[in-house]
Amino acid sequence: MPTQRTRFDAIAIDGPAASGKSTVARILAETLELTMVNSGEMYRAVTLSILQQGADPSAPDEVSRILQELELSCIIDGRASRILVGGKHPGEALRSEQVNTSVSAVAAVPEVRKLLVALQRNLLEHSDLVMEGRDIGSVVFPETPYKIYIEASESVRHRRRAAEGLNDSVGERDRLDRARKTAPLVVADGAVVIDSSEMTIDDVVEHSVGILRDLGWFSRNS
Ligand code: CDP
Ligand code: CDP
Repeated sequence: MPTQRTRFDAIAIDGPAASGKSTVARILAETLELTMVNSGEMYRAVTLSILQQGADPSAPDEVSRILQELELSCIIDGRASRILVGGKHPGEALRSEQVNTSVSAVAAVPEVRKLLVALQRNLLEHSDLVMEGRDIGSVVFPETPYKIYIEASESVRHRRRAAEGLNDSVGERDRLDRARKTAPLVVADGAVVIDSSEMTIDDVVEHSVGILRDLGWFSRNS
């Protein structure tokens, strides 16, 4: 008789902006029947709220004050989690140019990270996850053995965003994300690195599934 699993597991996918994390995580979630969590959406939602309130995203005190007033929650909708602010998903505005420009400053504020990391960890109470972001393998789930870091050259990543019709300062965001004191973007201990500069999405997915197989994802509890 197969043994009943008593806890859930997380696959951590980290990497810089436009490296392909969310596309790959979404396909893995569908293929492996997991919940996909886009943690960047949570940092974007806090940033959007701060901008909407006319506050200064580069002033940590103002960010912390507004954070305390926000009613943040996370639901699972099909195969993906969604961040809600005051019970509503903020929609396409999350990917606006203003949010792109301000999100790294907001994400550097320790109180913001503390609150969002707690929401992220809580999701593992409900199902197996593939969670993508910057600090998933290093801070959110450091104990998971299933860690992948996807990178690509800055010029390739810039081209990918432009092809989506989005104006995104990927290089500047990466610099800020790598330089911050709390939970900077790093290759987590034990993460397997994929350089996707010359790879299609299908190649990256196939490679990721191979890595997960080698790490024992498919033989858990057997
Ligand atoms: O999709 P893209 O890689 O462009 O960005 P994102 O994943 O939506 O993340 C937006 C921003 O949120 C990043 O540039 C980081 O500043 C922050 N972030 C973070 O600090 N930690 C995470 N786990 C996820 C995102
Ligand atoms: O989540 P992240 O910001 O890391 O990247 P993404 O939003 O998944 O991917 C950014 C864009 O690059 C999307 O339009 C993907 O379709 C594209 N992409 C690609 O062309 N080739 C890859 N190997 C990965 C992503």
